[in-house]
Amino acid sequence: MTNLHDPIAPFRAHNFCAGPCALPVGVLEELAAEMVDYQGTGMSLIEMSHRGAEYDAVHHDTMDRFRRLFAVPDAFSILLLQGGATLQFAMVPMNASQPDDSIGYVVGGTWGKKAVADAKILRPNTYEAWNGKEGGFSAMPTLDQLDIQSGTRYLHVTSNETIGGIRMASFEDPGVRVVADMSSDYLSRPIPWDLFDVVYGGAQKNLGPAGLAVVFVRTSILEDAPQNPSYLTYKNHADNDSLGNTPPVFPIWATGKMLAWMEDMGGVEAMQSRAAARSGQVYDAIDSSGGFYTSPVNAVDRSHTNVVFRLQNEDLEKRFLAEAAEQTLLNLKGHRSVGGIRASIYNATPDDTVTALTDFMSAFASRAG
Ligand SMILES: Cc1ncc(COP(=O)(O)O)c(C=O)c1O
Repeated sequence: MTNLHDPIAPFRAHNFCAGPCALPVGVLEELAAEMVDYQGTGMSLIEMSHRGAEYDAVHHDTMDRFRRLFAVPDAFSILLLQGGATLQFAMVPMNASQPDDSIGYVVGGTWGKKAVADAKILRPNTYEAWNGKEGGFSAMPTLDQLDIQSGTRYLHVTSNETIGGIRMASFEDPGVRVVADMSSDYLSRPIPWDLFDVVYGGAQKNLGPAGLAVVFVRTSILEDAPQNPSYLTYKNHADNDSLGNTPPVFPIWATGKMLAWMEDMGGVEAMQSRAAARSGQVYDAIDSSGGFYTSPVNAVDRSHTNVVFRLQNEDLEKRFLAEAAEQTLLNLKGHRSVGGIRASIYNATPDDTVTALTDFMSAFASRAG
């Protein structure tokens, strides 16, 4: 299968999309080759029963790879769900807290805001343990900045804010159980599992195509969960290996291939060092530009997956994006809520793509500066 170090195929664009993400060419080619006639069955995998032997093997292989790659302890169940990370904004409080529990949220940007808003609807004692609004969402809090109320059931964090381009540089123990939305840095850093009750995220940034949310939940908390409708009950999915109803067959299949590719590439540790190196390459291009490019985020909190930067004015940013697109450097526009430029560099982004960007940045600064 294609290696991260291989030159990018000439027909492929340099894709910096924030999600859905670029996938390895080898994964796409394998899917294409197997799509119409899966293993000589005369059917596609996405046309078969999810109760059949062929899909069952794919499903459990994907689960096993998650457990191995992410070193998920036996105390955690792995759930493969639909509804994206957004549905988890509701499912987490529904399953990990009682109606009167107080639950704390770290609001570091857009996604933390959305998570806490849904929790407030479901649990009246939801509170913000920290909100980065005053600082323009340009930094994550240190432990001593958190205002954690006594009796808090859990603290919810967004480990990487995809839009603002900031991340929690390390996971520290806040003294209560932690729940993390890891959508945009999934499997690009190891997890200290002891701290966590739930870790969740959408697959479509670091793991595979859209349509799958992956939830790791401490199984022991499921016994105490209040009653919820059946799909919204983690325990139903845990007890049935996420096969209680029809699972999202295609994204689970494709994600399994992506996980196999990640194992070949050296696993989470390799993804972590590559994320640091490749984002570092773009941050170096920003920092060495003499102020032509600027980073709006606090240096220690800079995201390793979503590199956000600005040029001196919006006209110059428009020109940057247009000239970048001419060289098939695509999807670099910052989120519509914040503007600027954003380069999303996920697990499958080829090295060449990052170098093509930094080469372009320096050439553009020379001709437009
Ligand atoms: C950190 C984070 N959380 C949640 C979401 C929402 O994910 P989904 O679109 O899968 O619901 C996103 C999407 O970009 C995200 O970046």
